Amino acid sequence: MTVASKKVVLVYSGGLDTSICIPMMREEYGYDHVITVTVDVGLPEADIEEAAKKAQTMGTEHYTVDAREEFARDFCFASLQANGDYQGYPISTSIARPLIAAKAVEVAKKVGATSFAHGCTGKGNDQFRIEFAIRSLMPNAVIHAPIRERNLTRKWEIEYAQKKGVPIQQSLNKIWSIDENLWGRSIEGGRLEEPNFAPPEEIFRWTKGPDEALANPVPLQIRFEKGIPVAINGETLSPARLVERLNLISGGSGVGRIDIMEDRMLGLKVRENYECPASVTLLAAHRALEALVLTRDELRFKRLIDQEWAQLAYQGLWWDPLKDDLEAFIGKTQRRVTGTVEMRLYKGNLSIIGRQSPWALYSEELASFDTTTFDQRESEGTVKNFGLQSRMYQHLVAQLEK
Ligand code: ARG
Repeated sequence: MTVASKKVVLVYSGGLDTSICIPMMREEYGYDHVITVTVDVGLPEADIEEAAKKAQTMGTEHYTVDAREEFARDFCFASLQANGDYQGYPISTSIARPLIAAKAVEVAKKVGATSFAHGCTGKGNDQFRIEFAIRSLMPNAVIHAPIRERNLTRKWEIEYAQKKGVPIQQSLNKIWSIDENLWGRSIEGGRLEEPNFAPPEEIFRWTKGPDEALANPVPLQIRFEKGIPVAINGETLSPARLVERLNLISGGSGVGRIDIMEDRMLGLKVRENYECPASVTLLAAHRALEALVLTRDELRFKRLIDQEWAQLAYQGLWWDPLKDDLEAFIGKTQRRVTGTVEMRLYKGNLSIIGRQSPWALYSEELASFDTTTFDQRESEGTVKNFGLQSRMYQHLVAQLEK
């Protein structure tokens, strides 16, 4: 195989798929210089360290990029403003891929590489997201996807890794395929692939089950400024800190477990389990505040816009012009999404118990049962003419279908 450069940048998680890419790049794709890039979008520290250690053992030039604040601010909160949800999944893996790929491109530019490799399979969504991002940011990039290109199985990969001395002890013990970042944790594989198999308690790391969840209701106050959460219980926090804090608080009350059938981009239905304590909580709070400050028509229209946005974001089309256009609308609505939301978390449930905003379109003076400012008598004419065309239609049916 001929290659454009001797250097290849490998988007590296430290797992089995990406680890076997290291010897493959050298021995089968003809690269003598493998550069591994691990991007921290809110991974456990142990995983970041393990990836770095493995890379070192295998003699790559390794980069760890801490992108947590950028991820929270520009990706998680962008999704929050769009109430980002795909089939009941607060898109998390989806929105991390563009950033991970962008960081890999940054490293490539620094080291003078134009070749990339990733460990995505040919069945999932990530191959689309990562390759779109790399090609958007570096149009002449050469991208290798060995797992897909060679149609590899896990069994083959394990044997290959053992033959090539790739450290995989950790991978061997792993039953589940996990992907996590600040916005959520996804658990796939093993018996979870049976849609009728109840998820065992052991798959959960961030959320307590109903038996272990805190015995008392937890009050929670979230403050938003222009659609961005800025403080929890009166304490101002940076974007990443705020999300981390909420993952602990809501997770402790068992909030954020999701079990769905999900339609992947290729049309495959898959069974997905997620733990999303912070995102589920923030999405509920954000919706509650929007319901207070946006007009009925804005809310109805924004739901359509949000859905389109989520569809594009799920596909990883982060630099798509329609996404940009939708964000112009979303951004304008968010200027009024300022205020606080009070919630109560209790054994996996989340209730909104209060909301307030200087932009509230609510008037107690008008809506109350106890006031006369809104003169009820003036509604009479409006009510009389309500549904005029529907009533005319019913009369016609009665007459003409006799
Ligand atoms: N289905 C989700 C998505 O495409 C998450 C996939 C995460 N992968 C995993 N190995 N758990 O965004």
